[in-house]
Amino acid sequence: MKKVVLAYSGGLDTSCIIAWLKERQYDVIAVVGDVGQGDDFEEVKSRALKLGASKVYCLNLQKEFIEEYVFPSIKAGALYEGKYILACALSRPVIAKHQMLIAKKEGATAVAHGCTGKGNDQVRFEVTYRLTDPDIEVIAPVRGWEFKTRDEEIDYLKSKGFVINVTKKKPYSIDTNVYGKAIECGVLEDPWVEPPEDVFTLTVSPQKAPAKAEYVEIEFVKGLPKKVNGEAYEPVKLIETLNKLGGKHGVGRVDMIENRLVGIKSREVYENPAGTMLFKALNDLESLVLDRETMKFKTALSQKYSELIYNGLWWIPLKEQLDAFFNKVHEHTSGVVRLRLFKGNCDVVGRKSPHSRYSHKLATYGKGDKFDQSLAEGFIKLWTTPFKK
Ligand code: ARG
Repeated sequence: MKKVVLAYSGGLDTSCIIAWLKERQYDVIAVVGDVGQGDDFEEVKSRALKLGASKVYCLNLQKEFIEEYVFPSIKAGALYEGKYILACALSRPVIAKHQMLIAKKEGATAVAHGCTGKGNDQVRFEVTYRLTDPDIEVIAPVRGWEFKTRDEEIDYLKSKGFVINVTKKKPYSIDTNVYGKAIECGVLEDPWVEPPEDVFTLTVSPQKAPAKAEYVEIEFVKGLPKKVNGEAYEPVKLIETLNKLGGKHGVGRVDMIENRLVGIKSREVYENPAGTMLFKALNDLESLVLDRETMKFKTALSQKYSELIYNGLWWIPLKEQLDAFFNKVHEHTSGVVRLRLFKGNCDVVGRKSPHSRYSHKLATYGKGDKFDQSLAEGFIKLWTTPFKK
């Protein structure tokens, strides 16, 4: 029997895949990557075994996900198309990497996933597979199998003697992890329709958020968030803490039309309280400590970085080279940023750093001004020179 390692979520599609692969004489090993989706993993595990998987690995990848994938993306200021913090996109390479490690350990000749043929995730998984082992067989049943609807999948499982506990009709397609959440499909497929309140679970609606603002201080060391309101947190806990704080005030909702790699536009709604707060805060701290040439130059690289992640190119040399650049950039991005959360807004209202380049002596219009204004005239004359005929 050929061995296949499947990225298993416990949902209907990947459950069907277990039975489908067994029917095709594969020995199925399921890998569940816990990136903080909050499922009952014991239940997920026993479901895989019941469906016929010979083994199940459940791996807690949360720490690695936040430290090695999310934090570098925050340092890079990577927002896809200026809006999306890439929570889902970042989780794929870490899951796929561990899937391949298990494939190697188990001597499997194939790997499988449950992504559709229209999305970005298939690319993210398969680029990782192929760069790790170009000869591995890749099976993506959902792209071409016989089932057209969820009901057909449920009926297929029933015909095999399995009744799995899933709702027949799901209003949305959701991807969640410890960093953030993405919601699409259903009524959201009409770009004109306002997202109904029931799509949101991490954030309250700004209308229902407290009428009193809350202040939050985030401390960064070399571009990495370390403390919230003076208290040190481990990376995963820090993200969870910020998600709660921001969520309470309706911070981090994004509604966007995005360009998928496969060429189509899709409408996605996101909830990213922690990411929103961290991006704003770090960006603001950068404006205090970086010189202007670095600040302006890095914008283009941030955009490039976001595209690499979105397009599944996490493992290519350029990504690592850009990390080196951003690590260098953040040598002095240490300090504290004060945010004000209020009815869906997250505003920076204060910042300080031992590496601040802000000079009160030069900026002030009040007493103690040390800026030599007499130099300005000559400066402007030279500045104009190249453009004179
Ligand atoms: N559009 C996002 C991405 O490509 C999220 C994809 C999954 N979305 C979902 N609602 N299941 O990274």
